[in-house]
Amino acid sequence: MSKVLVVTSGKGGVGKTTSTAALGAALAKTGKNVAIVDFDVGLRNLDLVMGAERRVVFDLINVINGDAKLSQALIRDKRVDTLHLLPASQTRDKDALTEEGVAGVITEMRERFDYILCDSPAGIERGATLAMRHADVAIVTTNPEVSSVRDSDRIIGLLDSKTLKAENDERMEKYLLLTRYDPARAERGEMLKVDDVLEILSIPLLAVVPESQEVLKASNLGMPVTLGSPASQPAKAYSDAARRLMGEEVEIAIPTDRRSLFGKFFARKAA
Ligand SMILES: Nc1ncnc2c1ncn2[C@@H]1O[C@H](COP(=O)(O)OP(=O)(O)OP(=O)(O)O)[C@@H](O)[C@H]1O
Ligand SMILES: [Mg+2]
Repeated sequence: MSKVLVVTSGKGGVGKTTSTAALGAALAKTGKNVAIVDFDVGLRNLDLVMGAERRVVFDLINVINGDAKLSQALIRDKRVDTLHLLPASQTRDKDALTEEGVAGVITEMRERFDYILCDSPAGIERGATLAMRHADVAIVTTNPEVSSVRDSDRIIGLLDSKTLKAENDERMEKYLLLTRYDPARAERGEMLKVDDVLEILSIPLLAVVPESQEVLKASNLGMPVTLGSPASQPAKAYSDAARRLMGEEVEIAIPTDRRSLFGKFFARKAA
């Protein structure tokens, strides 16, 4: 059975697009048929992170308007052949993203893919509500800072009211994806700790992705980190998250500050 996931956040710039690409690639590497869909009409970032910007011919709005078939707009990844991208349009009017249009595209995609990951735009406006509308599972992407947590709380409210699942009185599965986590800064009190965020949002934790140069490096090369640097810590966090989404039980690794551990060790020896 196919599953529609929305990667959402409220606050901008927290790592939704990065996470959509990394999770999509990790799921596809297991052999599942995966599509990642860019709902960020006007900005169009997912194709860049996937290194597919030169291959975009048609996009989501073309498919909605009937100017192209879904199969013409989908871009098959050159590295993992079960991974597909449906890009967003860069120039067109945001109103072209209609409720019926999105419903039609998602219905067609459900027949072809095991997992459909929708990369939501930031904010709580129409683009974000349309991206979450058909979701079975929501990945609430959050940074360990107060403003991000507050906006995620608002998004959780929308997930529980504006989605088809909510309207049909069904349970929306929601998971917290804590990204850009810097354990040293959390230890110093400059960022919220994992437990603080969990206490405020009270949804189950999917993964904690550390702040890492590897993510930026991979993105700049047009590679999700799970393909570009699969042995790195953030890639492992995303791969574990993908396995959890597939129903496997995998222990959640919380990044720790190595220096502070060393610090404690030496402090104890010295004492
Ligand atoms: N774990 C990480 N470590 C370091 N940098 C990261 C990490 N995750 C994301 N970033 C960087 O943060 C920036 C924002 O990421 P991204 O574009 O994925 O966010 P977004 O939530 O999709 O933004 P928007 O709301 O604008 O769509 C990018 O420069 C990305 O490379
Ligand atoms: Mg984005």
